[in-house]
Amino acid sequence: MSQVIEYSEKVMEHFTNPRNVGEIENPSGVGTVGNAKCGDIMRIYLDIDENNIIRDCKFKTFGCGAAVATSSMATEMIKGKDIEAALKLTNKAVQEALGGLPPVKIHCSLLAEEAVHAALWDYAQKKNITIEGLKPPVNDIDETEAFYETPGE
Ligand code: FES
Repeated sequence: MSQVIEYSEKVMEHFTNPRNVGEIENPSGVGTVGNAKCGDIMRIYLDIDENNIIRDCKFKTFGCGAAVATSSMATEMIKGKDIEAALKLTNKAVQEALGGLPPVKIHCSLLAEEAVHAALWDYAQKKNITIEGLKPPVNDIDETEAFYETPGE
């Protein structure tokens, strides 16, 4: 028997009306991560100004509803913040902002946290700077790998 997954209203709202979908041309940093088990892929683009403030942030996600909702919420939460605040954004904070996620969907929010970190890592590499506490992305996917558009875009 298949399991019925119940989402919070907030998750459903961000899934049906995701914020910040798209891409940024010449981004300051871009990070792409994937989950090998479910096959879902998430890419986050950052536009960062000279004061290390995230001016703009966009995402493309090929994945489940929870992955779309967490990318949407994560981008909303880091927009206008500095890179240290973005680094501190945990998947737990994203889950809480979404009113919780079912246990089988926790890894989806982890993907959002990892994608933000991967984009920050790319920014640090390009700028040749060190961001205190930022580790190299574990899940970074080769930029040349096939990537699918977010449905409905
Ligand atoms: Fe894998 Fe949601 S099921 S990201």
